[in-house]
Amino acid sequence: MFKRFRRVRLNPVLRDLLQETRLSVEDFIYPLFVKSGEDYKKEIDSMPGVYQMSVDNIIKECEELKRLGIRAIILFGIPETKDSIGSDALCEHGVIATALREIKKAHPDMFVVTDLCFCEYTDHGHCGILNPKLKSVDNDATLEILGEQAVIHAKAGSDMIAPSGMMDGMITAIREALDGAGFEYLPIMSYSTKFASSYYGPFRDVAESAPSFGDRRSYQMNPANRREAIAESLEDEREGADILMVKPALAYMDIIRDIKESTLTPLAVYNVSGEYSMLKMAARAGVIDYEKVMMETLVGFKRAGADIIITYHAKEAASILRGDDRV
Ligand code: PBG
Ligand code: ZN
Repeated sequence: MFKRFRRVRLNPVLRDLLQETRLSVEDFIYPLFVKSGEDYKKEIDSMPGVYQMSVDNIIKECEELKRLGIRAIILFGIPETKDSIGSDALCEHGVIATALREIKKAHPDMFVVTDLCFCEYTDHGHCGILNPKLKSVDNDATLEILGEQAVIHAKAGSDMIAPSGMMDGMITAIREALDGAGFEYLPIMSYSTKFASSYYGPFRDVAESAPSFGDRRSYQMNPANRREAIAESLEDEREGADILMVKPALAYMDIIRDIKESTLTPLAVYNVSGEYSMLKMAARAGVIDYEKVMMETLVGFKRAGADIIITYHAKEAASILRGDDRV
């Protein structure tokens, strides 16, 4: 009988020799949520193992991350006060700018990406300035403050700006604002193909960013659309995005592959909150082998075409990749 496939699967060394895709700790960006104040650390019920932290605790967390070999984080801010235009995000003393300066001072070698959006900072929870006629976000008014917010991040020490608001023209606007302020060398990783997904549910608990009315379907993408998903990323590439992104990841493996094959620009995927929590809760219920399912999921993203994986599993995965027995 024909034994072509069995023959190369019997020996474990040969199996490793023939493994086509390998995860490594360099693939990961770990999300962190910074809250104003001191000595604050609160676990989020819907995301076991994920915390809101004050900056002193984030600085400690970065030590642990470096010990695990994780050298990149993406930072989200939870401000003390919110208003209609998200003023905290436009102020040099806001939660993100302050945290950035302190983190970069304590850990100059940590690569700190900053999420650039307004939903955590506005009292209505939408990703920009509202236009009452549209009953949605005003595109161009938001572009203006996105540019300002990007310059605030840049001045405070951000290593890469990651706009997640899905406004048309956002990469052009942010690139112009950054270049105009002398930050021509600061890269932009665009959330270029971001779907209006219910998988963001637990994130909105941790980031305190649920919209107070309606949903985000008037700016985020329809999950059913493939051609538009590719067009979105290609548009951001034309506007000068240095890295593209697909978000969420699990239900969009085909889109990851499609975009990978449509461009030579590097591609990130965001393994979002709901995807993380599903595995955590299934593990709690005793229905899956958590570590194995997690590693299988992560390698799947890479096989699909991801160069970068943004994931809440980063610490646990790094620990396994290092061969630590503790996870
Ligand atoms: C903000 C933002 C969101 C996420 C990342 N940036 C939420 C949203 O668009 O509602 C989701 C991340 C996650 O679910 O882990 N625009
Ligand atoms: Zn947003």
